[in-house]
Amino acid sequence: MSRQRFRNVLVLTGDPSLQDPSKPGSRYSEYDLRYYDAMRAALWSLGQYRFEFFNDHSRLLERLLSEPPEFVLNFCDTGFRNVPEHELHVPALLEMLGIPYSGAAPAGMVMCYDKAIVALVSKDLGIPVPAEIYVGAGAKQDILNGFDYPGLIKPNRADGSIGITRDAVVADARQAQAHVAEVRKQLPGCDVLVQEYLPGPEYGLALIGNPGSGFEVFPPLTVDFSGLPEGWPPILGYESKTDPSSPYWTGTHIQPAKLDDDTYAELTGASKRLFERLQCRDYARFDFRAAADGTIKLMEVNPNPAWDFEAKLALMAGFAGKAYSELLEMILEAAQVRIVARE
Ligand SMILES: Nc1ncnc2c1ncn2[C@@H]1O[C@H](COP(=O)(O)OP(=O)(O)O)[C@@H](O)[C@H]1O
Ligand SMILES: [Mg+2]
Repeated sequence: MSRQRFRNVLVLTGDPSLQDPSKPGSRYSEYDLRYYDAMRAALWSLGQYRFEFFNDHSRLLERLLSEPPEFVLNFCDTGFRNVPEHELHVPALLEMLGIPYSGAAPAGMVMCYDKAIVALVSKDLGIPVPAEIYVGAGAKQDILNGFDYPGLIKPNRADGSIGITRDAVVADARQAQAHVAEVRKQLPGCDVLVQEYLPGPEYGLALIGNPGSGFEVFPPLTVDFSGLPEGWPPILGYESKTDPSSPYWTGTHIQPAKLDDDTYAELTGASKRLFERLQCRDYARFDFRAAADGTIKLMEVNPNPAWDFEAKLALMAGFAGKAYSELLEMILEAAQVRIVARE
């Protein structure tokens, strides 16, 4: 039985003509454009669909109204008009217009965008998370004194690892204060988390599918940090995603994780529970890291993970022997199976 339900697919992505605050200089880079071209080529190689590609956000509403697409592959991970807080506006708009689409609905995006909320839900599900304090815009400075350092500082709500740099790993309250101020230079007034620094191995896990129909789990990844200069904290922060000249880009490598059966079961079980509870749909990626005592803790849930061929999701598909085009096809199929089941 063919799982194909919609033949005509509108592929929606970020708008390269607009600024994007999560990118260096707020500009699309040659990498972004290369990823976009590769994505188009991979989709075209799937003969059975007809694709149209759309990234002009100023004309989005008009286009959706004048010629409602049969189905939208929502690869807009930048937010409407590249405003990260408006990532949910795209699925919200599609819902309002009754247009079927892939990926998380607004509710899932809202919950996962707030890392402190994800941590609360995770705890409630019995999934370990790093100890953390939430530093709201109006919090008193001395809130940072009561933490058991070393810590890692990150914006509570942001995209693309903004603010997660070498100095984000802090040894004491004074360093924490300095980095919170630094993060707020980039994101004025933002709420910030100080988390227990997790020094152990980092893991990533991807699920494709949905709770009703079951999941495909790709082989999990781990990160090889051994190419970093002596003394650089091993993190996959902002430079690892944006600066090809940084040792964080050149000296970190994603590779398949070697997990024993119990750990594998624990991470897949946790990911499936989080997927359902946080209302992910069709595909999602989960980031974990081990604490000093070996306990593996959740760092974040990505309901709209990067779709490019060099992103963690595609690398994990590759570990399973799947070509990039097959990954994209699996996402399309997962969405269509879900939509057909609901009809
Ligand atoms: N509590 C932590 N301890 C150690 N490293 C962390 C911690 N939180 C984040 N990191 C590092 O920073 C990276 C990015 O953090 P993450 O929470 O996944 O945010 P995002 O990917 O949205 O920027 C992680 O992949 C990891 O390398
Ligand atoms: Mg992450």
